[in-house]
Amino acid sequence: MQINSKDISYPDNLEINENLEEFVLQQQIYRAAIKEIKTKLEILDEEFQVKYDHNPIHHMEYRLKAPKSIAEKMKKKGLELNADSIRKNLTDIAGVRVICNYLDDINRITNLLLRQDDISLVRKRDYISNPKENGYRSLHLIVLVPVFLAERTESVPVEIQIRTIAMDFWASLEHQLKYKSHSEISEELRERLKSCAESITHLDMEMQTIYKKIKSEICLFE
Ligand code: GTP
Ligand code: MG
Repeated sequence: MQINSKDISYPDNLEINENLEEFVLQQQIYRAAIKEIKTKLEILDEEFQVKYDHNPIHHMEYRLKAPKSIAEKMKKKGLELNADSIRKNLTDIAGVRVICNYLDDINRITNLLLRQDDISLVRKRDYISNPKENGYRSLHLIVLVPVFLAERTESVPVEIQIRTIAMDFWASLEHQLKYKSHSEISEELRERLKSCAESITHLDMEMQTIYKKIKSEICLFE
């Protein structure tokens, strides 16, 4: 993905305190951090495939926060809009979403990633053990990963969201309703969504149990 200064368009009422050219260069560093995390997770997934004939990761998604969203978030937080302040205050510019097959895969992937020497954990939010009021479930990590540049090494924050396919299905619909619909979600739909979240929790546990049973039966006959 190519990013250049032409991609930066800020809402008219925002004051831009400096030339954001520097920040555009900074985008490259966040892209590199995404690549580092992606490679680490791919290596873990492949190792599992080879050793246990199982892929913990179904697929991954990546996103670099759009300059417009960066500007809006800085404004909402009442922070100055310059490259230095953005770097210090936003930890979700680089985002990786990991969609796992089964519940156990989430902890497996999390533990293996956090155990790596060059990864440091900044924040962990476990919305699986403690789902949000609306029913949202996912494990959120903010980690620092080193990016080796020609002149220096930078520790770059990456937000990682880890969830099952079912949790992702739910979150996508909820997100669409929340952000794309022009009116408030009605109480009735909110309740129905919450009830879907509960069904999904049950489904995830049941799928995990069935998978384990099938695996152990296969082992018996091998
Ligand atoms: P933001 O300022 O929104 O980035 O959140 P935060 O810094 O308080 O962090 P948190 O870990 O709670 O959420 C980070 C991201 O998770 C959000 O930007 C969303 O992408 C996702 N997320 C959090 N809560 C929900 C939710 O209720 N529904 C959906 N669909 N996504 C959510
Ligand atoms: Mg965010």
